[in-house]
Amino acid sequence: MAEGVTVTAGAPYRVVVGRELDIGELVSEALEPATGVILTDSNVGPLHAGRLAGELEGAGWRVVDTIEVPPGERSKSLSSYGAVVRRLALTGLGRDGTLFALGGGVVGDLGGFIAHTYMRGISLVQLPTSLLAMVDSSVGGKVGVDLPEGKNLVGGFLQPRAVIAEVGWLETLSDRELSCGLAEVVKMGLLCGGGFYRDLELLPQARGREAAALETLILHSVRFKASVVERDEREEGLRAILNYGHTVGHALEAAASYRILHGEAVAVGMLAEAELSRRRFGTDLRGEHRRLLEAAALPTRPPEVEPAPVLEAMKRDKKRRSGEHRFVLLKGVGEPVWDQRVEDAEVVEVIGSL
Ligand SMILES: NC(=O)c1ccc[n+]([C@@H]2O[C@H](COP(=O)([O-])OP(=O)(O)OC[C@H]3O[C@@H](n4cnc5c(N)ncnc54)[C@H](O)[C@@H]3O)[C@@H](O)[C@H]2O)c1
Ligand SMILES: [Zn+2]
Repeated sequence: MAEGVTVTAGAPYRVVVGRELDIGELVSEALEPATGVILTDSNVGPLHAGRLAGELEGAGWRVVDTIEVPPGERSKSLSSYGAVVRRLALTGLGRDGTLFALGGGVVGDLGGFIAHTYMRGISLVQLPTSLLAMVDSSVGGKVGVDLPEGKNLVGGFLQPRAVIAEVGWLETLSDRELSCGLAEVVKMGLLCGGGFYRDLELLPQARGREAAALETLILHSVRFKASVVERDEREEGLRAILNYGHTVGHALEAAASYRILHGEAVAVGMLAEAELSRRRFGTDLRGEHRRLLEAAALPTRPPEVEPAPVLEAMKRDKKRRSGEHRFVLLKGVGEPVWDQRVEDAEVVEVIGSL
C-alpha cells in the first residue's frame, strides 16, 4: 500500500508513504538509474542500508559506497560535511551521481547540504527513517549543518528528487523518538485544523505503532507541510507558522543543555505559546494541548531551568528580528497568526506558570 503527495516547490517531486514499498522501482520513476551513494548513520545503517542497496541494485542502480556517520546532532557539522564530501571525491562520484540520505533529520539535513554543494549539486533522494524526518525534515528543501556558534547556521534550499517514507522502518525507532515525531504532528494538526485535526484522535494508536494510524498522520503532515512550503518556499512569511511552539521550545532545549529532546521541548513550547495565545485572543486551548500531548506520551511540564538562560537562548534565536521576539500564536485551531510581538517578561511569566 502506498500513497503519494506531489510537492510543487521548484521541480515537482513525489513523497510516497507506505509499507513494504518497492524502493528501487519508486526511485527509478523519479530518476534514471545511474550511480549512487547511500549516506546513513551507524544506528540506521546496520539495520536498513544493506537491504536498500540490494533493492536499488535490483532496479539497475550502481551503489558504489555506503557512508555511515555517527548518530546524533554532532554529525550535522562542518567536520562531518568535510569528511563525507572528500570520501565522495575519492570514490569518484560524478555530477550525474545521486545521494540517498537514509536516516533521521540529521542525515537528511547533512546529506541534503552535501548534495547541494558537492560538484555544485548532485541529485538527492530523501529516505527518512525517523518519524520526525518523515513528517517534517525530509519535505521542504531546507538543508544544512550546525556551527559551534548555533544550529543550522550554514545551509541552503535543495528540493529532493523524491522522498520515500517506508513506515516499516519505524519499527526499529525508539518510543521516545517516536513521540518526538508526534510532537511535530500535533503542531501541524493544530495549525491545519479540519480533518487533520480530527484525525489527531489516532495519536494513541500511532503511539502504539499501528501502521494505518501512522500512515494517516504522516500523510496529513506531509500534505500540510507541502501546502505551506509551496506557498512560501523561502520562509518570507507564511512558512514561519511551522515554528509554532518552537520559539519557546528552542530556548528550553538550549537552556536545558539538550538534556531533553527537540520534540519534548516543542511540546512544552506549544503549551507556553497556547497560554500566550489565550492572553492575546481569549481562546483557551491549553486543555486541548495537554490532552493531545499526553496521548502522544510527551511532557507537559518544563524541564528544571532558570529563566535567565532561557532568555539568553531566545536572544540568540536567528529568527529574532530587531530585538523583539516574534511568535506564532493560535487564534483558534487551524487559525495561526504570525509575527506576534511578546516581551521578555511575559515569556518568563508564562513558562513559570506551567
Ligand atoms: N530540514 C528541515 O526542514 C528540518 C525540520 C525539522 C528538523 N530538522 C532537523 O532534523 C534533526 C532532527 O531529526 P531527528 O529527530 O530525526 O534526529 P536524528 O536524525 O538524530 O534521529 C534520531 C535518532 O534516531 C535514530 N534513528 C532514526 N531512524 C531510526 C530507525 N528507523 N531505527 C532506529 N533508529 C533510528 C538515529 O540514529 C538517531 O539516534 C535536527 O538536526 C533538526 O534541526 C530539519
Ligand atoms: Zn521542530
